[in-house]
Amino acid sequence: MSEPVDRLPQTRKSYDSSIFDHPDTAPLTLFRQWYDEAADHVREPNAMTVSSLDEWGPSSRIVLLKGLDERGFLFFTDYDSAKGRQLRADPRIAVNFPWQDMERQVRIRGLAEVAAPEESDAYFAVRPRGSQIGANVSKQSQPVVGREQMQAEYDAAVAEFDGRDVPRPDHWGGFRVRVFEIEFWQGQQNRFHDRWVFRRSDGSHEVANLDDVTAWTATRLYP
Ligand SMILES: Cc1cc2nc3c(=O)[nH]c(=O)nc-3n(C[C@H](O)[C@H](O)[C@H](O)COP(=O)(O)O)c2cc1C
Repeated sequence: MSEPVDRLPQTRKSYDSSIFDHPDTAPLTLFRQWYDEAADHVREPNAMTVSSLDEWGPSSRIVLLKGLDERGFLFFTDYDSAKGRQLRADPRIAVNFPWQDMERQVRIRGLAEVAAPEESDAYFAVRPRGSQIGANVSKQSQPVVGREQMQAEYDAAVAEFDGRDVPRPDHWGGFRVRVFEIEFWQGQQNRFHDRWVFRRSDGSHEVANLDDVTAWTATRLYP
């Protein structure tokens, strides 16, 4: 009996959605429409893969989208984590929404900006108390000797914050992905997929607001 990984070359699913024609809208409008559709079909539609860079190359991990407006895509993390340090040193970032259940993906390139402290405060305040305590205790991406150590630190923090609000630690907060390129990918038959990429109309790689129709030009790409 072969294992699933041994059958990878034969693993094949055909895609046949309706044709995705020229997106005659701003990228924000199209993303919102696709997100609404994904919300009905994808278990965690706000899970997105985020890639950052250091001297050794790119690295990727999943984070959760927690806000979206014309400025870009907001997520929260530890500023001292691997990704936090990388993005503060080099804001170049790539994001992918892997909505395979929809035969879709959205690919984004841009720059990560540290969110305003008030924004991070506002989101931190609505997180469950356990997550707030976890954010205070975790030194994300640092080595830890074992779960017992983590649990002991967590228990100590529960006692420390007993009877009062848990403060947002300085090392925890948001990044907003500002965008200079965003591609919408729709799977089609015979691997003849539809791809529409929005790039800056002026040919630049400057980030722009996603609702500014004049800033963006949509181009169809070969699959
Ligand atoms: C579904 C899912 C959602 C996640 N959401 C977040 C998130 O919103 N923020 C975060 O910092 N890490 C999140 N993580 C954990 C990250 O993938 C990653 O392990 C962690 O942030 C450390 O990454 P780094 O060492 O590259 O900084 C999530 C993981 C999964 C699987």
